[in-house]
Amino acid sequence: MSQRIVRIAGTGSYLPDHVLTNDALSRMVETNDEWIRERTGIRQRHIAADGEVTSDLATRAAERALEAAGLDATDIDLIVLATTTPDKTFPATATAVQAKLGAGPGAAFDVQAVCSGFLFALANADSLMKQGLFNRALVIGAETFSRILDWSDRGTCVLFGDGAGAAVLEAYDSLGENTGAGIITHHIRTDGTKSDLLHVDGGVSSTGTIGHVRMEGNRVFKHAVTNISAAIRAVLEETGLSSEDIDWFVPHQANQRILNGVASKMGIDESKVVSTIAMHGNTSAASIPLALDTAVRDGRIKPGQLILSEAMGGGFSWGASLFRM
Ligand code: UT7
Repeated sequence: MSQRIVRIAGTGSYLPDHVLTNDALSRMVETNDEWIRERTGIRQRHIAADGEVTSDLATRAAERALEAAGLDATDIDLIVLATTTPDKTFPATATAVQAKLGAGPGAAFDVQAVCSGFLFALANADSLMKQGLFNRALVIGAETFSRILDWSDRGTCVLFGDGAGAAVLEAYDSLGENTGAGIITHHIRTDGTKSDLLHVDGGVSSTGTIGHVRMEGNRVFKHAVTNISAAIRAVLEETGLSSEDIDWFVPHQANQRILNGVASKMGIDESKVVSTIAMHGNTSAASIPLALDTAVRDGRIKPGQLILSEAMGGGFSWGASLFRM
């Protein structure tokens, strides 16, 4: 019996030119390089230029992913874009990317799951493609998170940055039993009762404003380690794989201490952890595809290797995905 497989055919990413260092931040708000590095692992983050919008970042990342996959924009029949910082309230930022790329004909829509957005987008695209509705997709995480930061709140403004990452997915029919190739499984969850711990204090139908990020950092931290570990356990139990089978762990980049805590709790060797937090900060939905592309391009991640990814963010939303490159 033939089986439909969805694989990642190429990755790409983009970071805005402007780099904001911890030292530069310490001249804007009461903080210092040592505190930021020790408590988070972050050394710098990139900030989008005036007039540079989320779809610009997403389009640059998508162009690089298409080039890596050896495909043209006209080959793409689905774009799923994860963002918390859309260009406009509507239409979806994915449609702006569709137009800028000249992609299609096909469908393009946004997914809102904050820092877990890329995994939610990946699960969506993978499922739609496995149903046979689409053949070649772009899954993108892109953020101009700097636009929703309160630059006087040192508890949040030091953490986040802007950027975009993209993956081209390709579906094909494989003859025979489950080959274990391509995207294997996902576990995605939300808990709306915890939304006050990490949210934006504004919105279209509530205040009529964009609002700013508000977070009770240490309470989010504790939930993050618990929820992420549960999601990882779920994907491993479902597939019968163990943490030793994982070639690379590509987590959402929120805090180096969360990355280390989860890796040690799940028995994942530190040498398998892909960490980009020092250079990118927390880029929300963009952080996983940015880290994935970094490790593909520097030669660490090779074709056929098994990748475990996880994320946790506002909502709360969280999840884990397992896929073979
Ligand atoms: O991606 C979405 C999910 N997000 C996360 O997973 C983030 C999870 N949370 C965290 O990463 C950490 O909780 C933070 C990095 C946000 C904060 O680290 P923490 O170790 O939990 O610090 P804290 O909030 O408990 O604050 C400790 C101290 C406080 O001072 P006092 O009360 O002990 O005098 C803060 O006022 O550090 C102070 N502080 C700072 N000091 C210098 C907080 N922010 C700063 C700062 N610079 N930027």
